[in-house]
Amino acid sequence: MGGCCSRRYFEEEDGTIKYRLIHGRRYHNLSDSMYFVANDDKEAFRLSRYHEAIKEIWGGAFNSPVEKKLRQGAHVVDIGCGTGIWILDMAQQYPNSKFVGIDISPIQPTEGLPPNVEFLQYNVLDGLPYEDSSFDLVHEKFMLVAFTGTQWEEKVIPEMIRLTRPGGWIEMLEADTGASDGTITRRIQKATKGMNLTIGKEIPRILENTNAFSEIRNQHKIVNLGIKYGKSLEESLKFYVRGLSSIKGFMTTSMNVMPEHYDALVETVSIEAEKYSTYFNQYRICAHKKI
Ligand SMILES: C[S@@+](CC[C@H](N)C(=O)[O-])C[C@H]1O[C@@H](n2cnc3c(N)ncnc32)[C@H](O)[C@@H]1O
Repeated sequence: MGGCCSRRYFEEEDGTIKYRLIHGRRYHNLSDSMYFVANDDKEAFRLSRYHEAIKEIWGGAFNSPVEKKLRQGAHVVDIGCGTGIWILDMAQQYPNSKFVGIDISPIQPTEGLPPNVEFLQYNVLDGLPYEDSSFDLVHEKFMLVAFTGTQWEEKVIPEMIRLTRPGGWIEMLEADTGASDGTITRRIQKATKGMNLTIGKEIPRILENTNAFSEIRNQHKIVNLGIKYGKSLEESLKFYVRGLSSIKGFMTTSMNVMPEHYDALVETVSIEAEKYSTYFNQYRICAHKKI
């Protein structure tokens, strides 16, 4: 069994419990979120490390045609901002614009922030504390395991639309689990069944159905994993494998294996990725809200 004995809870002074520690990885302890990826330093390193590779793969931090507006002064929000790396990078490039990063976990820096940056700890499912049409660009990236299909369709996407001003843009970047012929990789991928890993493919249809957009741009990239494909794709492999470690708490239970056994399986995924050319799909969708 995935050892229950290595679970620990952190009690705050006011009696609330902020984090859970499972098999050496730290997870949030919010009752209203099903997000089960770690929120510790290792996860922060994984997320921040992949930022430059994403820019290389996609030719920039964003694809929506908002460059001019960003130079003049725009309001931008990043939902599920993680460490805030995207926000901080954008804020430095566009000092006339204002940036807000929202996340359930407080893993963003708190000191030395540029004056045009603000981070807020909030659950997007509760609705965000901003008026309708507050932002010129509403961005999100890699939140695929955070929500069910219904939550995406009925809560997250409607909230993103509400926050976007008419004529503004929504931009979303999502990925799936990938595909490989490796036995261990397949075993791990099978155990992730039940997670919503195909949302990237479904987003354009969901956006289309809202009738809120005058234009929806949908780009798809096959991201091959491994050193033989070059630096950013070697980083993609590391991001993928580190991601599997970040869901260790969930996976040891789902696969019914001991934590050490799971670590060994994850190591094998790296080897199989090089051998069988594992890849995953990434989807970047930019949608222009009707005026
Ligand atoms: C895989 S990380 C991606 C972070 C960042 N977008 C990036 O690409 O580096 C997903 C983030 O979504 C946050 N998250 C999950 N559920 C959320 C929710 N309901 N509301 C706000 N943030 C959430 C997590 O805490 C995590 O930081």
